[in-house]
Amino acid sequence: MKKIAVLTSGGDSPGMNAAVRAVVRKAIYNNIEVYGVYQGYQGLLNDDIKKLELGSVGDTIQRGGTFLYSARCPEFKEADVRKKGIENLRKRGIEGLVVIGGDGSYRGAQRISEECSEIQTIGVPGTIDNDINGTDFTIGFDTALNTIIESVDKIRDTASSHARTFIIEVMGRDCGDLALWAGMSVGAETIIIPEVKTEIKEVAERIDHGIRRGKKHSIVMVAEGVMSGESCAQELAKYINVDARVSVLGHIQRGGSPTGADRVLASRLGGYAVELLMNGETARGVGIKNNDLTSTSFDDIFIAEAHKFDHNIYNLTKELSI
Ligand code: F6P
Repeated sequence: MKKIAVLTSGGDSPGMNAAVRAVVRKAIYNNIEVYGVYQGYQGLLNDDIKKLELGSVGDTIQRGGTFLYSARCPEFKEADVRKKGIENLRKRGIEGLVVIGGDGSYRGAQRISEECSEIQTIGVPGTIDNDINGTDFTIGFDTALNTIIESVDKIRDTASSHARTFIIEVMGRDCGDLALWAGMSVGAETIIIPEVKTEIKEVAERIDHGIRRGKKHSIVMVAEGVMSGESCAQELAKYINVDARVSVLGHIQRGGSPTGADRVLASRLGGYAVELLMNGETARGVGIKNNDLTSTSFDDIFIAEAHKFDHNIYNLTKELSI
């Protein structure tokens, strides 16, 4: 392995820079040249590829976003379009590609490794959603979680002053982990997530019960994968008469300086991705399980049923918020 490339793709997440830095530094340490592909798969098609040096990743570990930029590139699903991208790697003699992103980004990497035996591909899980199989945590999840906690702690101050119910809509796509972990961390009275069916009538009863036993305010955490905060408020209004407000945290959840946990995770996974390439591995995603580094074939990662949801955490949140 003499030359590799790295790209960030899909929705950005805090810690992507730290992961790119780890890939670049680990590769150069092992006498491997590294190329940065700018703007994800779009940059691969546009041949926006530049050599990276040790200094290219200096002063980046603490920065949110991704200095390689990111993009969603639906055209990359087409075989003819992909050929062009593969050619841009091949003409530089690039033998390994590290793709940092979500599982949509992994699918592009899998196709490359299937269609070009000279290029090995490894995926690094970068998304705030924590929705990738083969890893307990994705890069950016912890930072987004902390951003939500900080925001809801502030919302709680005003909720308490006005004795209001707040409905907080959080990101996560079809995964409820951000809502669940944030809900547990802020002591939300109710957490509505895609993995568990929730009757709004019961949510209303819980809020009502809380008010009757003297609670001054109430926090409902709703995952965007179930419904919008606004729809949740409208549904609730059918059952109870409370002065509810809706807060949609939005893209603030994707920004900010990565937490220590995300910087360490990104560094470990980025370094491990290079190690796997050096060992001749391909079409695998790296991850962390029980704090050990691990890798899983893309094929296994794409088996949706395997996504791990922790029912124990969910059940505990219910017990703690009676
Ligand atoms: O996958 C990350 C994510 O932030 C999701 O939580 C959210 O649903 C989506 O991306 C938003 O995408 P966009 O930034 O393209 O609006």
